[in-house]
Amino acid sequence: MHAMPTHQMPAPAMPAAAMPTSAELFAPIARDLEAVERVLRQTLDSRQPGVARLVSHLAHYRGKRLRPALLLLTAKACGGVSPAHHTLAAVVEMIHTATLVHDDVLDDAAVRRHASTINAGWGNQASILLGDWLFTHAFHLAASVDARACRLIGATTNRLCAGELHQICERGNLDLGEDAYFDIIDGKTAELTACCCRLGALYAGAAEAMIERVANYGRCLGVAFQIADDLLDLIGEERAAGKSLGTDLHQQKLTLPIIWHLAQAPAERAGRVRQLLESPGNHKREKLAPELEADGAVAYARGRAEEFAARAAAELAWLPPSPCQAILEQLTDRVVHRDC
Ligand code: FPP
Ligand code: MG
Repeated sequence: MHAMPTHQMPAPAMPAAAMPTSAELFAPIARDLEAVERVLRQTLDSRQPGVARLVSHLAHYRGKRLRPALLLLTAKACGGVSPAHHTLAAVVEMIHTATLVHDDVLDDAAVRRHASTINAGWGNQASILLGDWLFTHAFHLAASVDARACRLIGATTNRLCAGELHQICERGNLDLGEDAYFDIIDGKTAELTACCCRLGALYAGAAEAMIERVANYGRCLGVAFQIADDLLDLIGEERAAGKSLGTDLHQQKLTLPIIWHLAQAPAERAGRVRQLLESPGNHKREKLAPELEADGAVAYARGRAEEFAARAAAELAWLPPSPCQAILEQLTDRVVHRDC
């Protein structure tokens, strides 16, 4: 009997029908998320028709609001949500959106959240400037809270850019090691999720030790999230994901299953994958995915994602039990077992 390819296996999590939607899951912070939306609308309202058109297209980019939710959930789990949290949740969402707008330029991506990307519709120059516009608005807004928030968010975005730069510098390096990969995803993704949790706890008045635990939860969650995201790029379905997939391969950005395969597979198989990665053309996913599933590279990467999700969940033992703490725990499972 042939083993079922890993990506077709039902996830060990809840069956899709029983899985709550993000809105259901985030019900305890629904009013706070509405307040965040109001801050976002007020901040991003532009009278400049050119800017307004681009900003209105960003409505399509609206995702699950994971980062604001992390900030609000940790705040509530650590003591309570204040107006500063609403402002900071809007700030992190604006930074996240700015990074996606820029990332789609770097990846030459055409589709994001089931809609055309800004670069596909308006070109790279408009995309860079729109990202900068969002990014500077985010800092302007953070300054209305205090200098400490600005410093933390500044350090985070700086590390985020360093992570992306590291990735760009390693493009085409087929000898990239796991340490470098983890450094890249820690910077480009986990630093921001850690910052969200840190801000939530800090502005709820949590003790220093608690803030560090909660920030580490966010960091481990971010790493698990990005490994799962990289798996989607390789074996996910574009229709479900709603974004261009295969861009990592096309850009020769090595991710965990490929790194593992190149290091572990017998020389002949690894050689085949190397050749495929170096060859021109756009259809590498179809050829690579079966190869990486057959030798356990996909299972290895999924296992590492689950390991980081479990590490994140372990940090939550430091929080007093509460509905928001329970949601943070559910998120550790959700970020790994998803198709979009
Ligand atoms: C998604 O990666 C991208 C990120 C997590 C970070 C992108 C960051 C920058 C481009 C830095 C500069 C931007 C600003 C404004 C500070 P991915 O391509 O793996 O994910 P995807 O599949 O969703 O595209
Ligand atoms: Mg991308």
